[in-house]
Amino acid sequence: MRMTEKVAVVTGGGGGIGRAVCLRLAEEGADIAVLEINSKNGQETAQLVKDMGREALALETDVTSKAQVDDAVAQVFDRFGKIDVLVNNVGWDKQALFIDTTEELWEKLIAINLMSAIYCTHAALAGMIDQAEGKIIFISSDAGRVGNSGEAIYAACKGAIISFAKTMARELARHKINVNVVCPGPTETALYYETSGGTERAKKVSETLIRATPLRRIGQPADIAAAVSYLASSDSDFVTGQTMSVSGGLTMI
Ligand SMILES: NC(=O)c1ccc[n+]([C@@H]2O[C@H](COP(=O)([O-])OP(=O)(O)OC[C@H]3O[C@@H](n4cnc5c(N)ncnc54)[C@H](O)[C@@H]3O)[C@@H](O)[C@H]2O)c1
Repeated sequence: MRMTEKVAVVTGGGGGIGRAVCLRLAEEGADIAVLEINSKNGQETAQLVKDMGREALALETDVTSKAQVDDAVAQVFDRFGKIDVLVNNVGWDKQALFIDTTEELWEKLIAINLMSAIYCTHAALAGMIDQAEGKIIFISSDAGRVGNSGEAIYAACKGAIISFAKTMARELARHKINVNVVCPGPTETALYYETSGGTERAKKVSETLIRATPLRRIGQPADIAAAVSYLASSDSDFVTGQTMSVSGGLTMI
């Protein structure tokens, strides 16, 4: 167990990759706060964490609202007294060629994929700096490294997350706060099925992707959680400002 007595905040911990991260960090000994818009799913994750013998707090939070984020982070400090690890996981996408998209969609994508991470990082930072150690992990996407047709604004946000994280890594190194990015490739979650156009179409998309992936499978949430757990632990104390793709070799950069 690499994270005994650590407190981790995970955004979007009610499902998919976020839930897998919560469970993996709990397995490593951490107590978990889940900031999740879907209250029922957030509570479910918290219960699973408690069933593992760890402390858990589920806070119904829309992380695109700075006020809600500030309030939720204050509640985490009240309950646990500290934040050791922040995992900025929330993200969302709707695939369409850029020419066919609207300002309304751009704003929604930027709010969910970029502003949420900025709000959460800002809210947690003062407390983490006081502690003089910590780990911040951003879940970006390989789309943010190499682009992807039909994901122009999503990819722009995910690319921005990577450069935001690098700047944070430089600014926060003196406070012993490490900042790194994990880029999942296609990973089997609700979002994957939604952006692939539903279960049937996703099956066909998966077959094509598997052929293109050197390790010959689609990612599972636990694959991403394993990388997050390394970056959240002291095993990565000398690693900062890095971007790690977890995509079976689909992209190698
Ligand atoms: N699944 C993939 O193939 C894939 C690939 C690359 C990157 N990613 C990234 O991984 C991260 C997790 O994706 P996932 O596939 O697990 O998605 P998901 O949709 O399965 O889960 C996202 C979770 O975030 C919550 N959420 C959404 N909006 C929120 C908001 N405004 N406030 C609080 N909670 C909110 C949802 O309720 C859900 O529980 C995202 O950043 C995504 O962009 C996923």
